Amino acid sequence: MSLAGKRVLLIVTGGIAAFKALELIRLLRKGGCGVTCVLTKGGAQFVTPLSLQALSEHHVYTDLFSLTDESEMGHIQLSRSADLVVVAPASADILAKMAAGLADDLASTLLLATDKAVLVAPAMNVRMWGHAATRANMATLQARGVAVVGPDEGAMACNEFGAGRLSEPPVILAAIEAMLAGARPLAGKHAIVTSGPTHEPIDPVRYIANRSSGRQGHAIAAALAALGARVTLVSGPVTVPDPAGVTVRRIETAAEMLAACRAALPADIAVFAAAVADWRVASASDQKIKKTPDGAPPALALTPNPDILATIAAAGADRPRLVVGFAAETHDLRAHAQDKRRRKNADWIVANDVNPSTGIMGGAENEIHLVTAEGIEDWPRLAKDEVAGRLAARIAKVFA
Ligand code: CTP
Repeated sequence: MSLAGKRVLLIVTGGIAAFKALELIRLLRKGGCGVTCVLTKGGAQFVTPLSLQALSEHHVYTDLFSLTDESEMGHIQLSRSADLVVVAPASADILAKMAAGLADDLASTLLLATDKAVLVAPAMNVRMWGHAATRANMATLQARGVAVVGPDEGAMACNEFGAGRLSEPPVILAAIEAMLAGARPLAGKHAIVTSGPTHEPIDPVRYIANRSSGRQGHAIAAALAALGARVTLVSGPVTVPDPAGVTVRRIETAAEMLAACRAALPADIAVFAAAVADWRVASASDQKIKKTPDGAPPALALTPNPDILATIAAAGADRPRLVVGFAAETHDLRAHAQDKRRRKNADWIVANDVNPSTGIMGGAENEIHLVTAEGIEDWPRLAKDEVAGRLAARIAKVFA
């Protein structure tokens, strides 16, 4: 999709990531997109109006009550003259103002007055992003239709690690392009995504689990939501943050995961990315199992867990139109994946090699092979976010 002839109103708020707005402007301009910048007081601590002006080749607006600005272009008009309003970086403060409907500076006033779609790219400290207030503000904004890109996870300027880094400019650019193209192709569709491991209790303090981080499943949930789907994410115990704009159902065991998936039906799309434990302890003890004087280890009798993917794929009239499973294999990947697709009645299987040497399980990257009725597509090794984006785009094609 071409950006040419489109105009973006870019609001730059305070944060160390504000410098990335410069690269975003450069990319937008390169694509032929007009950019008008609004710089908040906080943003001006990190980038200068002059830099924004030089790159956008346009006057930069900074002050709500500037008489010159008002005579040139009133703030109501400014909020409506663009095709899209983008807030990047979006600080915790601007998100809170947007959620509360405050209008105490130019940026917040424009955001309250605009009749255009709004995309926010949050960037803040990991604790601020995880704070209940920010969570609630994001939920409010997304319920109102504000689109979100990021934030990413990684090392932060404040020497902490976690979610809160501004998405990279090319990723924000792709989100802008999708929105300008009216690309919410999954609007009105409901997707169920399972993610993470399950914990199967042995006794009240011990459980059987696996190394799944939930990163891939969570990224898929976020990517589907970004394309407009309503997403129910059924997640086992994970430490990755909840993706913005999805409904999260937290469960521990496979039985609970199946119940949560069933409760979330009907759905158009189901993606089973969870690493579900195949077995559970047949009769978990309700008291902590004590060591015996002779030191003999307890024998744990296991019983199979329900296969959630196979159960939902066999749900008759309730079967989602597109059922996508995962196959985590350490050998004979293609043959096992093709067999799994047929056996579990899935439409697609996303197969990946989880040999420890690949670093995929629990890592940040994935190299997948998409098994469909038509054949097998080998994808390059990509960040899990990118795999998620591509998969969501592929899913959207089915519903085009
Ligand atoms: N799955 C599920 N419920 C289970 C087990 C697996 O929904 N009880 C789903 C997974 O989420 C994944 C797919 O089935 O989408 C494949 O899971 P995997 O563990 O790779 O395959 P298995 O069926 O367990 O086969 P095997 O143990 O032979 O690899």
